Amino acid sequence: MKTPPIAFARGLVKRYGTGETAVEALAGIDVDFARGELTAIMGPSGSGKSTLMHCMAGLDTVTSGSVVIDGADVGRMNQRQLTRLRRTRLGFIFQAFNLVPTLTAAENITLPLDIARTPVDRAHFDAVVAALGLDARLGHRPSELSGGQQQRVACARALVAKPAVIFADEPTGNLDSRAATELLAFLRRSVDELGQTVVMVTHDPRAAAYAHRVLFLADGRLVGELEAPTQASVLEALGSLGSASGDGPAGPGLRSGGPATILPATIAAGSPAGR
Ligand SMILES: Nc1ncnc2c1ncn2[C@@H]1O[C@H](COP(=O)(O)OP(=O)(O)OP(=O)(O)O)[C@@H](O)[C@H]1O
Ligand SMILES: [Mg+2]
Repeated sequence: MKTPPIAFARGLVKRYGTGETAVEALAGIDVDFARGELTAIMGPSGSGKSTLMHCMAGLDTVTSGSVVIDGADVGRMNQRQLTRLRRTRLGFIFQAFNLVPTLTAAENITLPLDIARTPVDRAHFDAVVAALGLDARLGHRPSELSGGQQQRVACARALVAKPAVIFADEPTGNLDSRAATELLAFLRRSVDELGQTVVMVTHDPRAAAYAHRVLFLADGRLVGELEAPTQASVLEALGSLGSASGDGPAGPGLRSGGPATILPATIAAGSPAGR
């Protein structure tokens, strides 16, 4: 990797509960996120994707291991430092949009900046709003917006602050295919043209194909990685991981625990066909 990663985790373990009922949502993750890259995270329901995002973003405490964002060790921060990190350096797009119902779309979009008393870059605001097709909706409150529009407002809110990293949990989950395509194209453009770093959870191979890289999770472990994905290569990787995970908890490869830059043989062998 050319430049140091903007965010990374080492030996990341997250356990919920204790004793018999404990769930190991993350079972030891080593991962780097490169600056100016769009990374997609895929994996079955319950494989730990949202947990990974929450732990990376300091929204949830980790059981063991470390998370570093933009040079800062998240685990060593106190609540105030964490809040500041989230407000100033991170952007979020969640499954639930977390919009403030009493504020208009425009006010929701600039809320994190307003709270941090950071001036809004109007040109950037206008570019984001136009690209997401929200111009005519800026004065509306969330209850007056469709689900897809609310999701786009949440995206605009994340993008307008130009954070170090945007974490997006299924950002296209509620969008029709045209709106999803527009949003993904815009996310990718913000990465390519503005150097934004985006980590995006998705179940959709079409969405994953917009990424520079796809990481595959299963049972709280990284079980595969695909560079320069296409819809076809993602589908193929999902297929091979699906069949591989039938005979073991994590499939072949990537059990050694090093940073996830190794391509498991199953995916490496299958991927070029799609390109
Ligand atoms: N607060 C919690 N308490 C107990 N268990 C939890 C909690 N949050 C998540 N889990 C468990 O951790 C595991 C990983 O959950 P997570 O939400 O990260 O999955 P996911 O990959 O995002 O799934 P989905 O695709 O359905 O969103 C699951 O088994 C889930 O039940
Ligand atoms: Mg989830």
